[in-house]
Amino acid sequence: MLTPNPPSACVSSIIGTGSYMPEKILTNDELSKIVETSDEWISSRTGIRERRIAADDQATSDLASEAARRAMTAAGVTPEEIDLIVVATVTPDMFFPSTACFVQKKIGATNAVCFDISAACSGFLYALQIARHFLNAGTRTTALVIGAEKLSTLINWKDRNTCVLFGDGAGAVVIRAEDPGKDAPGRVLSTVMGSDGTLTDVLKVPGGGSACPITAENVASRPNTIHMEGRETFKHAVTRMCKASEQALEAAGLTKSDIDMVIPHQANARIISAIADRLGLPMEKTFMNLDKYGNTSAATIPVALDEAHRQGKIKRGDVVLLVAFGGGFTWASSVVRW
Ligand code: ACO
Repeated sequence: MLTPNPPSACVSSIIGTGSYMPEKILTNDELSKIVETSDEWISSRTGIRERRIAADDQATSDLASEAARRAMTAAGVTPEEIDLIVVATVTPDMFFPSTACFVQKKIGATNAVCFDISAACSGFLYALQIARHFLNAGTRTTALVIGAEKLSTLINWKDRNTCVLFGDGAGAVVIRAEDPGKDAPGRVLSTVMGSDGTLTDVLKVPGGGSACPITAENVASRPNTIHMEGRETFKHAVTRMCKASEQALEAAGLTKSDIDMVIPHQANARIISAIADRLGLPMEKTFMNLDKYGNTSAATIPVALDEAHRQGKIKRGDVVLLVAFGGGFTWASSVVRW
């Protein structure tokens, strides 16, 4: 599904990044005391060595707000300049109000329109695309796009198939509408997104919503936790992320040889190396931090982008490919000229 990128009133540029990871570290060895697993199994199958766990009194909006403050500081904008906040999350503070409204209150972005979107691990790139359309159309000027999750609240700590994979965290970018003639850094050149709702059963949290409310009868079977067919997810993730990468490059008028750095969704090192392999890219052009954080769903890409930038791994003018895949299934990609 190739998204047209028509000429528009403005272009969108990422002008600041920020991230916040909770302090508490949960290592593979610590997990092996909770479920029957081992550091060897987890790190060899996934590349994950540890993950962060938010404090009991930290909601998703607290993680998101701290990431947002850091992104605003990096961008040099005040909260009042933000006129759009889109939060991608599958772990909202509440069903409503939106987590974005809580973020608005916490950071004092009094002029913003705020809403959440739900696209699981592709959520941040969906949110980036949505915000970019507002900016390119000239209806908003400065947006906060945030991916934030407290996935520890959706984990069944007795299920070794899933509990070893996930963690908590938040990342954010500030994007601004720019004159198309201006050579601004961070320009979003293309965005592509897709979905396949026939595969909703493969990766889901089946309970806690309107289809299966939590009751005294079903609570013991933990329907409000992540259920996943790992191998099926793996297969689709590789295929879809490769295709989406090619489409985003095509939409930007670029080819694989133009890529300086890929920032992929951080689910599994084996998924990432399969993608690098299929795109014909050396692993040095692929950013990974999942060893420290595991899979933080919508937060992985903005956190990785922030770290890649702060570590000097991407520099002005680099072609950066962002690509994600998640429950739904959903997938998305974007090319940014840094
Ligand atoms: N520790 C030890 N053994 C385990 C663990 C564990 N944590 N988890 C599963 N096993 C066992 C299984 O019980 C099974 O044992 P059995 O053969 O006796 O039945 C064996 O290991 C193999 O299980 P598989 O599920 O076949 O293992 P696989 O090699 O497929 O690896 C994994 C599992 C890591 C989940 C892999 O399928 C995967 O990464 N899939 C992608 C899923 C993913 O990343 N999802 C995140 C959300 S979607 C996204 O972000 C893209």
